[in-house]
Amino acid sequence: RLDQQTIDTVKSTVPVLAEHGEAITKRFYQLLFENHPELKNIFNMANQKKGRQQQALANAVYAAAQYIDNLGAILPAVKQIAHKHRSLNIKAEHYPIVGEHLLLAIKDVLGDAATDDIIEAWGKAYGVIADAFISVEADMYKEASEQTGGWIDYRSFKVAGKVKESEVITSFYLKPVDGGKLPTFQPGQYITVKLDIPGEKYTQLRQYSLSDSPGNDYFRISVKREDETPDKPAGKVSSYLHQNIGEGDVIEVSAPAGDFVLETDSKKPLILISGGVGLTPMMSMLKTAAAVTPDREVHFIHAAINGTMHGLKDDLKEMAQTNSNVHTHIIYDSPTEEDIKLQSFDKEGYIEGPWLTSIAPEEGDYYFCGPEGFMKAVNSFLKEMNVPEENIHFEFFGPKGSLED
Ligand code: HEM
Repeated sequence: RLDQQTIDTVKSTVPVLAEHGEAITKRFYQLLFENHPELKNIFNMANQKKGRQQQALANAVYAAAQYIDNLGAILPAVKQIAHKHRSLNIKAEHYPIVGEHLLLAIKDVLGDAATDDIIEAWGKAYGVIADAFISVEADMYKEASEQTGGWIDYRSFKVAGKVKESEVITSFYLKPVDGGKLPTFQPGQYITVKLDIPGEKYTQLRQYSLSDSPGNDYFRISVKREDETPDKPAGKVSSYLHQNIGEGDVIEVSAPAGDFVLETDSKKPLILISGGVGLTPMMSMLKTAAAVTPDREVHFIHAAINGTMHGLKDDLKEMAQTNSNVHTHIIYDSPTEEDIKLQSFDKEGYIEGPWLTSIAPEEGDYYFCGPEGFMKAVNSFLKEMNVPEENIHFEFFGPKGSLED
């Protein structure tokens, strides 16, 4: 337990730290990777370049510090991060390293303003926050190890099938090399893939949503190839998977994790909205809903550039043909001639509020995933439709961002 003075010191300095947030986090990662280069095997260094991860970790520490005397209030946020940590195999022994470097960075950036009292108070507060994470994560590791077919750390999987789903999306069917059972998972969950890429000094870890329903003898991920664009380099891991990993190859995988999951006991209409490769968790949810609650009304809304970029098309068509309660709504912003000839889409352009209102009941359960701009737009349409907050569920790929401008 923290004494009142420590609590007061921490709470009163949160705004100061937050104000210097960027400088502190930059310094923090600089020092962390200088002193512990081995952590580059765990952190996604591409996220580092984009700066998003920097903000995520430090912001979470400050947010937690504000609730330092009532951490229970932010348990859902802790759990969401803990899922990611568990999937990355972050361990209790990593926490003091992060804490030490956070304090060093605070001292460096604030200089004399960071008095001994302040540093000491933050050291204690970090310890309390770290303990909260460690304890939630310990439960998750225990659950992963005790679950039938479950495991902790990484397990070797053989690529049993590689299927091109669109010009940019390819599915990998993964089966455990040990021939053992697979655990069940909740639709919407992801796995971490660990790859050693020739020529790369550090191991690469990436998360991919499971794109098929639970209960199969394989895990399926559907990976978008991230090509080079004027403002970002090609995705190292996605390119390697597409170009160099094929049937028979073995990759390391961690057990399913994540709290963006379908509530299967709801009877309300289910509306799954995705943009681009954001459809992967939605396919898993769609297949599960159709199998477990066949009477539930389901709307699958998907926006893609055109038919050549639209992944898992055949899967989706089959779901709609074999389940009378599954309704699909496909939107292409630049349909090809072929799309027009085949009438393979329902709307040209983008998802818009009035259109959404015309097909989706406001009393439904909404799940969405896609690029950031897409998610912001969908979120604001749902707000305009007065969909209650508790019926809105979403997932960011990569570090969690904000849906507010
Ligand atoms: C991801 C917070 C400790 C390694 C994250 C994220 C947050 C966060 C907010 C982003 C979650 C998301 O993707 O949605 C924290 C807090 C910590 C802490 C508040 C301490 C109390 C640690 C430690 C390690 C670690 C000790 C290991 C050295 C990572 C990694 C990611 C991550 C590797 C994935 C993001 C990436 O690779 O870019 N953490 N974290 N974290 N955290 Fe932590």
